[in-house]
Amino acid sequence: MNNVILIGFMGSGKTTVGLRLSYRLRRAVIDTDKEIEKEEKRTISEMFARDGEEYFRDRETAFLRKLSESTGIRIISVGGGLPLREENRKLLHELGQVFYLKASAETIYERVKHDTTRPLLQGDNPQEKIRSLLALRDSCYAEAADVTIDVNGKSFEQILDEIEQYVNGAG
Ligand code: S3P
Repeated sequence: MNNVILIGFMGSGKTTVGLRLSYRLRRAVIDTDKEIEKEEKRTISEMFARDGEEYFRDRETAFLRKLSESTGIRIISVGGGLPLREENRKLLHELGQVFYLKASAETIYERVKHDTTRPLLQGDNPQEKIRSLLALRDSCYAEAADVTIDVNGKSFEQILDEIEQYVNGAG
């Protein structure tokens, strides 16, 4: 399938890049977090609090399976934890070209420090949590990706230009 898929840690810019890319490429964009919230009629924080993280992870896998049975060429930005499951990584590959938006712990902290919607970062020491989670996840993201885009210090326009080159086959 020919979708463009954006993966990466929370705050790496997937949602914004997805939206802007959809204007540039004139393709619809889908955000797995938002779709799951719509289906469940509640926020991710509520899902984590009531039913636990595993429940949300199962919803992510179910949503990906559904996407892989549908047609259309889209941009799909996925929640930061979704590529951790092997089955999900396989499904992502089947869905299209996977881009890892790779950001440092410092870049991420600057972007998410005022955010209250991400349950995994609501503890006492979000900086340390980001560092340790990123260290655990980086290899998974790299394994899931066809292309890694270093986003540190880059404008959205630069990031979009890089992705577009690969989508057009010139990268
Ligand atoms: C998560 C990332 C979030 C969301 C949930 C869990 C994660 O998505 O799916 O809070 O485990 O990294 P974003 O990456 O879009 O913030």
